Amino acid sequence: LVVNASKDSIRKIPETLFGVFFEEINHAGAGGLWAELVNNRGFEAGGQHSPSLIDPWSLIGDDLLVRVSTDLSSPFKRNPVALRMEVLCDKDCPAGGVGIFNPGYWGMNIEQGKTYNLVLYVRSPESVNVSVSLTDSIGVQSLASTSIIATDVSNWTKVVAKLEATATNKNARLQLQTNKKGVIWFDQVSLMPTDTYKGHGFRNDLFKMVQDLEPAFIRFPGGCFVEGEFLKNAFRWKETVGPWEERPGHYGDVWFYWTDDGLGHYEFFQLAEDLGAAPIWVFNNGVSHQESVNPLLIEPYVQEALDGIEFARGSPNSTWGSIRAAMGHPEPFDLKYVAIGNEDCGKPYYRENYLKFYAAIRKAYPDIKMISNCDASSKPLDHPADMYDFHIYSDASTVFSQAKAFDHTSRTGPKAFVSEYAVTGKDAGLGSLLASLGEAGFLIGIEKNSDAVEMASYAPLFVNKNNIKWQPDAIVFDSSQSYGTPSYWMQHFFKESNGAALLNSTLQSNSSSSLQASAILFQDPVDKKHYLRVKVVNFGSTKVNLKIAIDGVDPNSLDTSGSQTVLSSTNVMDENSFANPEKITPIRSLLEKAGKNMDVTLLPHS
Ligand code: AHR
Repeated sequence: LVVNASKDSIRKIPETLFGVFFEEINHAGAGGLWAELVNNRGFEAGGQHSPSLIDPWSLIGDDLLVRVSTDLSSPFKRNPVALRMEVLCDKDCPAGGVGIFNPGYWGMNIEQGKTYNLVLYVRSPESVNVSVSLTDSIGVQSLASTSIIATDVSNWTKVVAKLEATATNKNARLQLQTNKKGVIWFDQVSLMPTDTYKGHGFRNDLFKMVQDLEPAFIRFPGGCFVEGEFLKNAFRWKETVGPWEERPGHYGDVWFYWTDDGLGHYEFFQLAEDLGAAPIWVFNNGVSHQESVNPLLIEPYVQEALDGIEFARGSPNSTWGSIRAAMGHPEPFDLKYVAIGNEDCGKPYYRENYLKFYAAIRKAYPDIKMISNCDASSKPLDHPADMYDFHIYSDASTVFSQAKAFDHTSRTGPKAFVSEYAVTGKDAGLGSLLASLGEAGFLIGIEKNSDAVEMASYAPLFVNKNNIKWQPDAIVFDSSQSYGTPSYWMQHFFKESNGAALLNSTLQSNSSSSLQASAILFQDPVDKKHYLRVKVVNFGSTKVNLKIAIDGVDPNSLDTSGSQTVLSSTNVMDENSFANPEKITPIRSLLEKAGKNMDVTLLPHS
């Protein structure tokens, strides 16, 4: 491999090249990054009618002693369902009383010494005496408890309490119990750990895993989640802002689960800000998997998009900016990119409607960059755009070979946003080394073509192990633990690329069809030194002895110290797991001889 490190060889890589894509899929948010522990906190999961679904809430006590149903007596207009609990026993109730429990999302992770904020709404014609506890999964061991004792809750009353855990259980549940005969209504029962990231509601370990990738941008909230199978189930941002108790929640009919929408439009922008990543909002453009709104009727959707931008960027005195300000963020969020739909090019009316969105946003916000769903990698678009979406999901060899996907793309038109890429299918399993090698080869091509590609992100980012709707994913988690797949660790090799200098590099090896390589020069933000990094993917099954020559600079200007970092394993189909979460992670060691000429051994499949 010959690397030309002369000044003439340098081309700056976009500051935004590598980022992340967060979709509400696989319970990535609800039951994942969003730290709310109660699942279906408003009892609305079956819809805004009665009877609704109270799952996964269940009864404590048999139905001769306690009965529950839903009705429309909630104090919240936008989510009218409340739970009605009728207790039939009194002094004869079983020890501890009867009631209801919520197991969270496949068990709540309750940790000794930590504090949990409980909020709930209660109403009853009589005085109430309700014990609230966190217990193990069968309600035997108490981990934390408090009581709600009130003489007058004849009107809906908000109860706030702190639960201090005296023991740890990763599969805990929240119980509400009483042994007093009568009827009690509950609504909007929330339990949040107090130690979320900056108190912003993000689960710390999962937040850190994303933060460690140093993403330049975050695309959200989908994906198909934005579209819905039907428009009535699409993510409608206005339903996800304001006080959490008042959000209606919705059923995502593409990934088949209910979200209370605690992680809403505001929280996504907060997440971007906390990550130091540029927000890229994908909005619903009047297209679902089954429907496309006629251009004659698209105006409300255009206004909805404009309002969503105003929510993020408008002054605190504007209609929607004032709601953001009231939620705690008077300063505008730094929104500079929006995507007009997801994977909708070719669907009926996409182009006609796109032009309406484009014109309205361009007029109101001339600096916002708009992303079209139509691929322009091989032919020009027939409509204006600042960027265009490009998605690739395929087997490992195909993805590896797509390193050249942008070799012949026009350098004058809009730039590509590779907003979803991954190796899928049997090559990938739940996240194999092989998948990460195909993707690494592809990303090297992206880096080299970063005069035609502005951004790239892997998909999907998260999966809750208990609800795999799509595999593979970058980060696997359950209630208490998480690990990165090889595709997650592969992305760490590209962290320094944003804003770095790309150098010309040429592979001269005769096994070069299974190799991909690139070279960058970057400044370390901590020690301020300049580093040259060569990345090489060996997609083949044989070891390669590679000579690397650094040309175009005075050899004496090169330090002779260096390191090498390798991602590999004994078997190309190896995966990480909860049992062995670090089986495949980057291993760093000193390079014996760094400088103008270097000899390195590339392990098979590394
Ligand atoms: O990443 C999973 C899905 O793949 C996304 O929701 C969609 O955009 C694509 O089809």
